[in-house]
Formats: sequence, structure tokens, C-alpha cells
Amino acid sequence: MIAELVCAACGSVIAPGDARSTCACGGLLSVVQRPSRSGAALRRLFDRRLRDGDAAVQGSGVWRFRELLLPGRGVILTHPEGRTRLYRREAIARYAGHANLALKHEGENPTGSFKDRGMTVAVTQAVRAGATAVACASTGNTSASMAAYAAQAGIPAFVFVPTGKVAAGKLAQALAYGARTLLVNGDFDTCLALARAASERLGMALLNSINPWRIEGQKTIVWELLQQLEWEPPDWIVVPAGNLGNTAAFGKALEEARAFGLLRRVPRLAAVQAKGASPFYRSFRTGFARRYRVKAETVATAIRIGDPASHDRAVRSIRATRGVVTAVSDREILDAKAVIDAAGIGCEPASAAAVAGVRRLVGERVIRPGQSVVAVLTGHLLKDPGIVIDFHSRPGGKRNPPVTIEPRIAEVERLLR
Ligand code: F0G
Repeated sequence: MIAELVCAACGSVIAPGDARSTCACGGLLSVVQRPSRSGAALRRLFDRRLRDGDAAVQGSGVWRFRELLLPGRGVILTHPEGRTRLYRREAIARYAGHANLALKHEGENPTGSFKDRGMTVAVTQAVRAGATAVACASTGNTSASMAAYAAQAGIPAFVFVPTGKVAAGKLAQALAYGARTLLVNGDFDTCLALARAASERLGMALLNSINPWRIEGQKTIVWELLQQLEWEPPDWIVVPAGNLGNTAAFGKALEEARAFGLLRRVPRLAAVQAKGASPFYRSFRTGFARRYRVKAETVATAIRIGDPASHDRAVRSIRATRGVVTAVSDREILDAKAVIDAAGIGCEPASAAAVAGVRRLVGERVIRPGQSVVAVLTGHLLKDPGIVIDFHSRPGGKRNPPVTIEPRIAEVERLLR
């Protein structure tokens, strides 16, 4: 396999072994893949690895696709990740108003979110390129994932997160895995600007999704789900959207799948933002004639982002797949989450935006009856326990509040009868 890095802004070509995560001009780098096998041969190889439990690639559903990820044969830093399940649940389909709905649960990755897929590739590349420290800004999941992989690699990790806006589970992970955690008095967008400047000045590898190798790893969400559907593509893939790394990765995965002959028909992408953090949705409404930067606010703290770094790449994804962008309110997100949770699956608030988005697009008849839809749940229920306890404890509505009792059987009988 031959691959090279190309700057989207100035067109510079950089060797894949380079330690830089962005171009010297400030533009974002993108990996150009040139596989040396046919689509049919690649599919056979990937299918054989899947059948064998990915034994040849250390059990990883990411490295199963290694021929289309990172060139070179060095050590791979894997937990392993991927191999996440597809679920169908009647209650969730009923809520969404659409029978043919499957959910791919990326919360089943080792640190509880899809970030592990990008991180295994980015940390592997960074270590191969000689990085001695890694850094990221985060709304929580990226920092949790990076911290875990840095611990495995044995290099220090530095995370920049917005004070008071990171869910408890995620902050706990970053601390537990030993990342030096900086609580920044500012929002995610401020954290990212600071992390970029700090990495440059202090020589740390920046592992946000502006790092092209993160995008390479996250492509495998799409390839794995296509493979689970025996390469029979769904009509729609629906994904929550914040900093737009995943939207960028999904479009790249689909473009490559078609170009390399893995796939004939390309599904349409739907990116779902929270209404209070929806600059990409606003831009979509102008036909992408304008780019917006907003002050973001939403209960879904994972996607509380006002100035998405991968805007341009995500525009390309939506255009290339004849995709759409929509936005859902916090109320819709929490309602969808309650349904997903009560079905025994569960996810964090940002993930529920995907299902709320399906419901909205079905209502608007953008998604048509009978079409097949896969929505991606990006993070685990336990990432944000605070929001669940708050949701169920508040009086009123269809809630499940805990009840405090004295240890007497009469009280139990009174409550459970
Ligand atoms: N869902 C979850 C659970 C996330 O953590 C994120 C992003 C997204 C969706 C949005 O993905 O940014 O690629 O559009 N979390 C980042 C973080 C920003 O720092 O953990 P995106």
C-alpha cells in the first residue's frame, strides 16, 4: 500500500511518517490511500479476518482494515477496539417512526466511545513518528480515549477540557488513566485553539480529529457496519455531529469504498447537531455558501461545539453522499435517550441525537418509508451518569425516580404491590 498526506489548503504533499498533525500553512492534512489490491480481494481479506475473530490483527475491528489505514509494518497499539454490535429494537423503531432502523453501538469500544477507533491509529502513527508526548482538547471522550492509549504506549498525555462541561465518567477516565488534565476556563473551541498552540510550542503530537490518522481509524465504523450488512449498503447512515471529525471520516470511508470497489451504491449521510450547537446545520441551510461560528450550549456536552474544525471536510462528505444536516432540541435528545435507555441498550446524550434526528427526518419525509437506516450510537450510557440521575429524579413526566425507604418489609410491600 502507498499512502501520502496532502494539505487541503495549499496542496503540499507530506510523507506519512511525518510527526506533524497539521500542515505548516495551518491547513488540515488528508491521507490519500492507494491500495494495491482489487476491491474484491480486499473484501475477501476483510471478511476472512472478521470470521477469524480478527486474530491476524490482534483482535481489532479497526486494524482488520489495515491495508486502507496506516502504511508500514511497525508495532500497533491496540486495546483492541471495534467489533461493535448492530441492534434492532422495536421500541426504538416505534419511537423513530421507522421500522427499518439499526443502531451501531460504538459505546462498546474499550473506553466507551468511537474515539478509540481513531485513537489506535493516531497513537500508533505518533509513536512510530517519534512522539514523546500527546495532547488534545476535548469535550471528554477524546481525552478519555487518548489517555488510555498514551498509558499503553507509556508516553505522557496532556488534555485541555472546558471547566464544568465534561461529563463525570469521561473526566474520571482521563484522571484514572493518568493524563495531565487541564480544566480550562473557556469552551471547547477555546480549548482546541489552546491545545493547538501548546502542541506546536511544546512539541507534543496533537491528537484531535484534525489529525488525519484519527479520521483514517474512524472510517472503520462505516466499513464494519457495511460488512455486518454483508456489503448491502443501507439507504442512510445517521451520525451525531459536533467537531465534524466523524462526518468527515464517514464521507471519506464511503468515497473510498466506492472508489476501491468495495461498494457499488453509496448510502446517504445524515449529520445531526444539537440545536444550541448547530453551526453546520445553519451552513447547510445556505447550501454551504456561508460558514458559521456560534456560542454553543446543549445538554449533550459531547457536541457542545460552536466552531467545528472539520467543517470543510464535512461539507465534502455531505455533498459526496447527497447527504443532509439536521438539528434537534435538547428536549428531543433527552426523549430519544430515554427510549434508547429504556430499551436496555442505553447511550450518552450526544448519541441519542442520532435517533432524534432519524425521527425528525422521517417526520419531514426526507427519510422515506421502507428505506434502511443505520444510526450510530457514539458513546456509552455510563459516560454521563449525572444527566440520567437528574432526568429521572426531576418531578413530573414519564420518569423512574429512585425511592428511599426504611429497611422494613412492610415498606417494600407498600411500594412494590
Ligand atoms: N458523540 C460523542 C459521544 C462524542 O464524544 C462526539 C465528539 C461526537 C458525537 C461528535 O463527533 O466531533 O466527530 O463530530 N466528541 C469530541 C470529544 C469532540 O472531545 O470527545 P465529531
